[in-house]
Amino acid sequence: MSNDRHFLITGALGHVGSKLLSDLAVAYPNARITLIDDFYAQRYCSLFNLPETGEFRFIEGDVKKLDLNALLPSTTALFHLAAITDANASLEKGPLVEENNLLGTRRVAEACAKHGVALFYPSSTSVYGSQDAVVDEDTPDSELKPQSPYAESKIKEERLIRHLVDSAGLKAVICRLGTIYGASPGMRFHTAVNKFCWQALTGQKLTVWQTAYEQRRPYLYLGDMVNAARMFIDENLWDGQTYNVVTSNHTVHEVIETIKKFVNDVEIEFVESRIMNQLSYDVRNTRLDKLDFKFEGSLHKGIEETMNLFSALRFRSAQ
Ligand SMILES: NC(=O)c1ccc[n+]([C@@H]2O[C@H](COP(=O)([O-])OP(=O)(O)OC[C@H]3O[C@@H](n4cnc5c(N)ncnc54)[C@H](O)[C@@H]3O)[C@@H](O)[C@H]2O)c1
Repeated sequence: MSNDRHFLITGALGHVGSKLLSDLAVAYPNARITLIDDFYAQRYCSLFNLPETGEFRFIEGDVKKLDLNALLPSTTALFHLAAITDANASLEKGPLVEENNLLGTRRVAEACAKHGVALFYPSSTSVYGSQDAVVDEDTPDSELKPQSPYAESKIKEERLIRHLVDSAGLKAVICRLGTIYGASPGMRFHTAVNKFCWQALTGQKLTVWQTAYEQRRPYLYLGDMVNAARMFIDENLWDGQTYNVVTSNHTVHEVIETIKKFVNDVEIEFVESRIMNQLSYDVRNTRLDKLDFKFEGSLHKGIEETMNLFSALRFRSAQ
């Protein structure tokens, strides 16, 4: 059956997409996989050495402008990863982030509804920013406290998708992903774990937001994100629900202690960020737990993968 499948990935060349595209090609041999990216993040390297088991096609283009109607009739499931993704930088370019992310999601979700294509939508646990110590998918919208234009746009995009699920029969899942770590060909280094790995490897001080050191936050191992996506495909579970996808919750202190197992002489510099707040919270996977979904990642595993990519730089290594 695998060769009947046709997957479409927007934003395919980024941190998540560049892992998803090759893992789908291996898990579903001979599946057709169409990749769309506008090179906002300039990740040509994600197209190097693709697995031979996939039948790939790459389309360079902006999801806000491409004719999706021509692509969707044959598509089984669409993974809409195209977005401007740096939450901190979004403070300086809120209108651009909203225009790109919300408009892109609107076009993609409306096209999926029209053609009966299942939509995987990656939201973010940054929508929570909650006052509660523990939050899950039942936290009411009125208690969500997004801290950036990026997270505000995610909430608007979620609402748009729920509206299309109810009004147009869109088959979809909304996955609120924790901050992703773990290696991929197109990986980026602006989010917490990856940024600290890079700074440690290159002998820089780790720039930690002042209030964040002992705050707990949700993190997601990239391999677990791909396994969750595969579960939705295999179970044909496009039920319009929102799912948290979080491998584990950690403080920045714990992240840095894990990095110290791989690199000696790690120094920290506390810095200010406009996203800083005093809130510490854990995000639970209540819905995935009910489905008995098993998370296989760990901070140690993801950080080790990342460190191994740069093994030749590890002249300061603890090992
Ligand atoms: N990485 C994380 O920690 C994380 C956490 C939660 C949610 N997410 C979400 O997962 C998705 C993928 O994240 P990522 O980390 O791979 O991001 P990324 O920035 O690495 O990749 C996004 C890709 O989208 C492309 N893109 C941007 N706008 C586009 C457009 N209009 N048309 C076509 N392509 C476009 C970029 O060129 C880039 O290759 C995003 O929606 C992001 O918000 C990521």
